[in-house]
Amino acid sequence: MEALIKEYSKRLKLSWVRQHFHEVEATTNEEYLLKILESEIQQREARKINLLFKQSSLPRITGKPFEWGHIQMGQGLTQDHILHGGFIEEKENLIFYGGVGTGKTYLSTLIGLNAIQQQGKKIKFFTVAGLVNRLLDAHETGSLSRFFNHIEKLDLLILDELGYIPLHKQGAELLFQIISMCYERKSIIITTNLQFGQWNHIFGDPILTEAVIDRLIHHSHLIVFNGESHRYKESLLHGK
Ligand SMILES: Nc1ncnc2c1ncn2[C@@H]1O[C@H](COP(=O)(O)OP(=O)(O)OP(=O)(O)O)[C@@H](O)[C@H]1O
Ligand SMILES: [Mg+2]
Repeated sequence: MEALIKEYSKRLKLSWVRQHFHEVEATTNEEYLLKILESEIQQREARKINLLFKQSSLPRITGKPFEWGHIQMGQGLTQDHILHGGFIEEKENLIFYGGVGTGKTYLSTLIGLNAIQQQGKKIKFFTVAGLVNRLLDAHETGSLSRFFNHIEKLDLLILDELGYIPLHKQGAELLFQIISMCYERKSIIITTNLQFGQWNHIFGDPILTEAVIDRLIHHSHLIVFNGESHRYKESLLHGK
């Protein structure tokens, strides 16, 4: 009988049931069935979240809470709307602007983690340089439309470090295509150390730059990260 239960569980893809059905204690049939179904569902959800984490390429961060002291947000925007994914539901963009070590990557990562854990959202974290390299590769190998399809399926795209490296013409154009594709259909978080007025230096072409900014700032919130570098403060604290 045990072999058959295992066989049928396998055919029904009930992997938790297959491995643990004999460990469950219950006084009635209903209680037994309820317990194994619940555990199967819990395991599936945990597996799904794990997979979403893996696919997200989010950087690892420590669990320490985010300090909001030097963060300047526009009126009407709340920490809750950012941290708990309201902006994703509204398909809004977030633009994080500020100097080095002020928490842009850290906050965008926290938001990504929450979106996966609390909302089961599909997200992907790229540095802008990393994304542009992927795009150029995909272009060269003829797999651009497959890569675009992959981006299409996301709920939130995080683009870290816009402005740290100037883009070549083709890279800038491909990045524009991604931003354009996401426009009004999914959320983007962009972190940058450059004001809009200087984005021309990144994209290298005023018309393209204007088109990028126009799409990004429509339905978006600008969040300014002031203050000193936390990296610097932390290294002073630890005497490194
Ligand atoms: N507001 C904050 N609250 C708590 N920790 C912070 C905050 N800002 C920064 N940190 C800490 O400082 C480290 C560096 O921050 P982070 O990498 O997010 O900076 P950044 O703004 O992305 O800088 P860069 O522009 O150089 O990429 C983080 O890993 C985190 O440990
Ligand atoms: Mg960063």
